Amino acid sequence: MNANAHDSIRAVQWHGDYLSLLDQRKLPAQSVWIECRNASDVTMAIKDLAVRGAPAIGIAAAWGVVLAARGGEPLPAAMAMLRAARPTAVNLMWALDRMKSRLDLGANAAALQAEAQAIQDEDLAANRRMGEFGAALITPGSGVMTHCNTGSLATAGFGTALGVIRAGVSAGRIAQVFAGETRPWLQGARLTMWELVNDGIPARLVADSAASHLMKSGAVQWVVVGADRIAANGDTANKIGTYQLAIAARHHGVKFMVVAPSTTVDMATADGDDIEIELREATELLSMSGTRTVVEGADAWNPVFDVTPAALIDALVTERGVIEHPDQAKMQAVFGG
Ligand code: MRU
Repeated sequence: MNANAHDSIRAVQWHGDYLSLLDQRKLPAQSVWIECRNASDVTMAIKDLAVRGAPAIGIAAAWGVVLAARGGEPLPAAMAMLRAARPTAVNLMWALDRMKSRLDLGANAAALQAEAQAIQDEDLAANRRMGEFGAALITPGSGVMTHCNTGSLATAGFGTALGVIRAGVSAGRIAQVFAGETRPWLQGARLTMWELVNDGIPARLVADSAASHLMKSGAVQWVVVGADRIAANGDTANKIGTYQLAIAARHHGVKFMVVAPSTTVDMATADGDDIEIELREATELLSMSGTRTVVEGADAWNPVFDVTPAALIDALVTERGVIEHPDQAKMQAVFGG
């Protein structure tokens, strides 16, 4: 089976003079596209999670710079605004730094547009390579569990962890996928299940709290997740709940795979303690779909990422290959710095 048969979604689309984003706040109930015509529109889309997922926000920000250049906006201010939209995923800063180095070399709006397109195209190519590398690690007939959404919606297309799942299903290596709901924003329930059903991949949703019980049952051989920032020693920030999946996986003898492009690697950050963890509004936990579910007067703590120590990671897959049991020396050998 061809992996392309399981890859039909493109959520970030450039239309020559505006950027179109499939609004991830509304899925799966509605497929609504929003139009971004300046850097401020893109910044708001990133902040409000209309576009989300580490590679996708980097790509959107690059297009935000193009829109700013085309509209004659002051570029340093536009780039600072985009950079501050979210703190944890380093792909955002990486993409803006790459656009800035083109600007510093005197790029005009057309050259910036070519650069943003290159960032988007390279991400898709990286995902396809990672799909092959990651799927090759999985014994045919395996069950896998994933967390959050790391698919076409979160990237230029195909996905990182979900790309490995797409490739693994196509190659007959993955027989069953389990997706965790990913409270509170429900990236797993709303977005990953939408992608998997759309692309005909056999998948079952589980409550986040079912993960250890599922692993104990023997139905899962690999947990496969994405990343928002990977530090120089391999510590990995990803969606809140990833850390407890890694602990549960180690306890049950289930393998744990992180899949992310090299644009998610941050060799300037020594370890996970130095990664800023985004805290979002308590209201995201206290309500569901706009309806308050918790007693008025209650407060909540809502960190939206956590850090999995490198020691709990069996395989780190990037487009450069597979690093087994990542540590500082192995990371440096592949990424320098
Ligand atoms: O808050 P989100 O939805 O942007 O968080 C997304 C994740 O944590 C993903 O796992 C990560 O960005 C990788 S997406 C390929």
